Amino acid sequence: MERETFAINRGRTLAAVLVAVLALAALTAGLMGCAPQQKAADTGSGSGAAAEEAADDPMAGQPVNWTMESECATCHTSEAESAVDTACPQGVAHEAEGITCVQCHTDETTLSGEHADVKFGDKPATKATVDTVDPATCISCHGDLAEVAALTAESTALTDDKGTTVNPHERPAGAKHEEFPATCTDCHNNHSKDLPKDAMKYCAQCHHRGVFECGTCHELRDREVA
Ligand code: HEC
Ligand code: HEC
Ligand code: HEC
Ligand code: HEC
Ligand code: HEC
Ligand code: HEC
Repeated sequence: MERETFAINRGRTLAAVLVAVLALAALTAGLMGCAPQQKAADTGSGSGAAAEEAADDPMAGQPVNWTMESECATCHTSEAESAVDTACPQGVAHEAEGITCVQCHTDETTLSGEHADVKFGDKPATKATVDTVDPATCISCHGDLAEVAALTAESTALTDDKGTTVNPHERPAGAKHEEFPATCTDCHNNHSKDLPKDAMKYCAQCHHRGVFECGTCHELRDREVA
């Protein structure tokens, strides 16, 4: 079994090297095919994806003078789409209320830092890697956990494999829950299509997936919490 795995991995490595060599060859050919002096005459039919993109977007590669007033949707297309995609109820609900990007993404210092080296045409992350949303802004409109807990008292979104249901805004009292209080953005991503799954991921930082109970199988042991 182990030998087989090794053989597969080795095959994959060789294939990866081959792909890399081919890609490099293609890239070199592409670069030679669209030398700068050729680009002005050649409208859009340049070889290679990079050349096509450059032809589509004359701003590509230019530095961005980012401010909180920048047109966020130009670059963050997937987040902008979540505001009109019915599969993303949170994005749609906030768009309907006319709430803008920077009403939630309020941390200007972190945002400026993230955009300091951004050039037009750069591909932004589609998963959050930094905190720029202050849960206090959610609370200022919706109320705190205790208040939203009243809205979700009947929710079955968080149900484990044994049928135990927990209100996502009100976990049972317990030392670890109190030591690590949940904040709105631990579970809520405005641009997500699956809030219950995101919330379950949060629980799974400590609980085994699909099991809320503790202490029935072994003594309590700590797990890392991000
Ligand atoms: C109602 C509040 C809200 C609004 C409005 C909002 N966002 Fe977000 N956004 C969030 C939250 C919450 C997250 C998840 C952050 C986290 O995990 O810390 C997020 C995540 C992101 C991320 C990280 C990548 C990702 O998709 O997870 C980007 C980029 C982003 N938003 C850009 C935008 C842009 C651009 C707009 C406007 C078109 C916008 N957001 C509008 C709340 C909001
Ligand atoms: C010119 C394109 C462009 C514009 C305009 C722009 N961004 Fe970005 N943004 C980016 C890129 C590229 C990154 C990724 C930077 C990096 O990874 O170093 C980024 C990163 C981010 C992140 C961090 C995502 C993460 O990794 O967690 C947030 C949040 C964000 N942008 C929000 C905004 C908001 C809000 C606006 C409007 C005020 C905006 N951006 C305008 C290109 C842009
Ligand atoms: C400027 C006020 C404001 C801010 C800031 C805000 N919201 Fe909202 N939110 C609303 C309004 C208004 C609605 C639509 C009415 C409602 O459902 O309460 C809404 C709707 C929602 C919904 C229901 C979406 C659905 O399924 O219909 C959720 C969930 C939500 N907000 C969570 C959040 C979270 C989490 C944050 C912080 C990241 C946040 N909101 C920030 C005002 C706000
Ligand atoms: C920081 C770690 C941590 C996180 C995150 C966490 N829990 Fe817990 N949870 C525990 C621990 C540890 C216990 C055992 C009781 C105690 O000592 O707090 C527990 C107990 C429970 C219990 C009671 C189990 C029993 O045997 O009576 C339930 C139900 C529960 N958690 C549900 C959840 C849900 C649902 C989430 C996600 C919304 C969650 N927990 C997130 C650590 C965590
Ligand atoms: C442990 C994860 C988790 C945390 C933390 C959390 N939420 Fe939620 N929230 C959920 C889930 C899951 C739902 C969907 C419940 C359902 O649809 O059955 C929800 C639903 C909501 C709703 C819609 C309620 C309705 O009318 O049905 C609002 C508003 C909301 N959350 C706001 C907040 C705010 C504000 C905070 C921070 C104070 C917060 N949430 C913290 C997981 C969480
Ligand atoms: C249904 C039985 C069961 C329950 C309930 C259970 N565990 Fe476990 N747990 C296991 C098994 C099986 C293992 C792997 C074998 C071992 O290390 O004992 C394990 C391993 C672990 C480990 C070490 C490996 C790892 O995944 O990090 C930790 C830490 C842990 N459990 C914590 C918890 C906590 C905290 C709870 C309650 C929130 C809990 N367990 C509830 C069965 C359970």
